[in-house]
Amino acid sequence: MNGYNSDGKAPNVSREELERQKVFINKIKDLNDEFEKENNRKKTMFISTFGCQMNAHDSEKIDGMLKQMGFVDADCEKNADFIIYNTCCVRENAENKVYGNLGYLKHAKASNPFMKIALCGCMMQENDVVETIRKKYRHVDIVFGTFNLYKLPELIFTNIETDGPVFDIWKEHGEIVEDLPSIRKYKFKSSVNIMFGCDNFCSYCIVPYVRGRERSRSSFDILNEIRALVKDGVREVTLLGQNVNSYGKNLDENINFAKLLRMVNNIDGIERIRFMTSHPKDLSDELISVMAECDRVCGHIHLPFQSGSDRILEKMNRKYTKEKYLELVSKIKEKIPNIAITTDIIVGFPGETANDVDETIDVIEKVKFNGAFTFIYSKRTGTPAAAMENQIPEDDVKKQFNRVINALNPVVYEKNKSHIGKVYKVLAEDVSGSDERFITGRLEDNSLVHFEADKGVIGNIAEVEIIDCKTFYLIGKSV
Ligand code: SAH
Ligand code: SF4
Ligand code: F3S
Repeated sequence: MNGYNSDGKAPNVSREELERQKVFINKIKDLNDEFEKENNRKKTMFISTFGCQMNAHDSEKIDGMLKQMGFVDADCEKNADFIIYNTCCVRENAENKVYGNLGYLKHAKASNPFMKIALCGCMMQENDVVETIRKKYRHVDIVFGTFNLYKLPELIFTNIETDGPVFDIWKEHGEIVEDLPSIRKYKFKSSVNIMFGCDNFCSYCIVPYVRGRERSRSSFDILNEIRALVKDGVREVTLLGQNVNSYGKNLDENINFAKLLRMVNNIDGIERIRFMTSHPKDLSDELISVMAECDRVCGHIHLPFQSGSDRILEKMNRKYTKEKYLELVSKIKEKIPNIAITTDIIVGFPGETANDVDETIDVIEKVKFNGAFTFIYSKRTGTPAAAMENQIPEDDVKKQFNRVINALNPVVYEKNKSHIGKVYKVLAEDVSGSDERFITGRLEDNSLVHFEADKGVIGNIAEVEIIDCKTFYLIGKSV
């Protein structure tokens, strides 16, 4: 397609490619140093991240590269010289936000002659999005996708040299590029990619189309990365993949997710290990045993069930039934009694009836989730579900959506209430957004807690007594 890489395919890339990008990083750094001399200030940057933890983690890599180029954080978006949106397309509202913001940026750019705007991430893997950007958002300077993030330095340099827009989107992945510089949002915790892409093709979901085929990193690279993180002060890692339970399938080594988890658990100095996401169809008995045995693996599992109706699950291509899901949950609870289970739910899938939603509510009541993300189905062009009959208008979904929320909230509240009066170890993460006197942290089971404490506790594990709770968080005091 016009303007894409000539054949739309990814060249093979490797660690050497990273060396090539370093040359561009240095060239841009020199230009930014010159800019500083002439203007008495450094060039500034602003990253906006949409979507999941995968994107958040990619943004840390973008941050790492931009800082190496000499950019510093801007105080706000409109004052930045380099603005980058790392986008998500899993639901339409995430896309609309990006378009809305871009419209507003047009005015901001008119008043800052140095401003450059870049777009990347999942939305950019959709042809119609890229065409819309080309035609209607001509103030965008750089566009790239999910497979060539590591090329950002080269793309920035090409944009400077040619003084014209640069579009570089690949249709498929190349080799995994290791060792990208990255700046962690938190010093004491970090995400670690263990695999990329997804092969499950749930019928509603666009992720397999924009993140490509499933591929795992070698255990050698993963373990080395985690050892280095631990040396650098990291206490908690979250192993990331769209479906961690199928980790290792494309590797030559004899490994699976349960074995990897055990290896991570053996790393000296690591304190908490989390992972996401688990697809119920691939969750093995071995994994449940490893979770039960390994003391550093947190007692929490995010296990999306999406719908409780077998009819809908089949149309979703989820490959399990309500009964299978409930059996799995019972098995997990039996082996790991205090496990916290969270989930994702979709309401309003094509053809879903009130009876189907009754089944979803039944699962909520039987499992008693500690938390759930509930989504209104969003039609994604190109997915099988988008072509199904009986698409339900969003307004009609609201009533069923509210039924699900009304069933869920008391269940989650009861779970939270069961923590009251007990003392837990809490990793203190941040000052609370709503009240500066409070610190926000997480229990080992991933429950969120706000507790009154000094800022100095951030990054440490505190002993906290839970004294009260709301639906979405606990309230505690240091002991
Ligand atoms: N790989 C993960 C989830 C990735 S997307 C998994 O399979 O569990 C996160 C969540 O977004 C999904 O679990 C699903 O609940 C929701 N989702 C995905 N596509 C959607 C769509 N088209 N409309 C509404 N919600 C969607
Ligand atoms: Fe999407 Fe299903 Fe893959 Fe999750 S497992 S990313 S919901 S296709
Ligand atoms: Fe994540 Fe959204 Fe992409 S959920 S994988 S950022 S489409």
